[in-house]
Amino acid sequence: MHTGMESPRGIWWKPAHKAEKVWVLIAFGWCMVLFAMMPLWHLKGAQNPSGIRYRVDPNDYARRTAEFIRTYKTGEDGGIPVVEPPPGSDVYLLGRMWSWQPVLKLRKGVQYTLHLSSLDVNHGFSLTPVNLNFQVVPGYDYGLRIVPTQAGDFRIVCNEFCGIQHHAMVGRIIVVDDSAAAAPQPSTGGGQ
Ligand code: CUA
Repeated sequence: MHTGMESPRGIWWKPAHKAEKVWVLIAFGWCMVLFAMMPLWHLKGAQNPSGIRYRVDPNDYARRTAEFIRTYKTGEDGGIPVVEPPPGSDVYLLGRMWSWQPVLKLRKGVQYTLHLSSLDVNHGFSLTPVNLNFQVVPGYDYGLRIVPTQAGDFRIVCNEFCGIQHHAMVGRIIVVDDSAAAAPQPSTGGGQ
């Protein structure tokens, strides 16, 4: 009778079967391929951003954002300032419980340095529907060199749980196409 007290009779201490060795080698080889893909994809894939990170005091960041809004504000959208920064400028976006400040109006094909940071807890910057995702961390200024390639009215959805109103934390980025703006447009964002 099998009581479970004696050692099981088995063959696990015998040398591995050839097929098992082959699979271990294949798995290891694949690990190496994936490992190499991390730096390769960073350089070739144009997907992983090379961000600029600085430590920043959240209050300093809030001041910088306020200054940025004062300088380039062109309107308001539901109580949130709409800001139209000039090409090549530093653009500040502040995440906090539970809003994104300000609404950004950018131009297609123009480079900006987009700064992301939070005033309180971790938030997630998720640009929809293009599916760009970045962490927004208090105490860190994450600078991204961006060139909008697509005109449209985009939403920033918070994808990091940040409290009771997390689901309502939605911001807005409007990208206008300057070449198309030469002719009068029926609607350029703004009130709706
Ligand atoms: Cu901010 Cu969730």
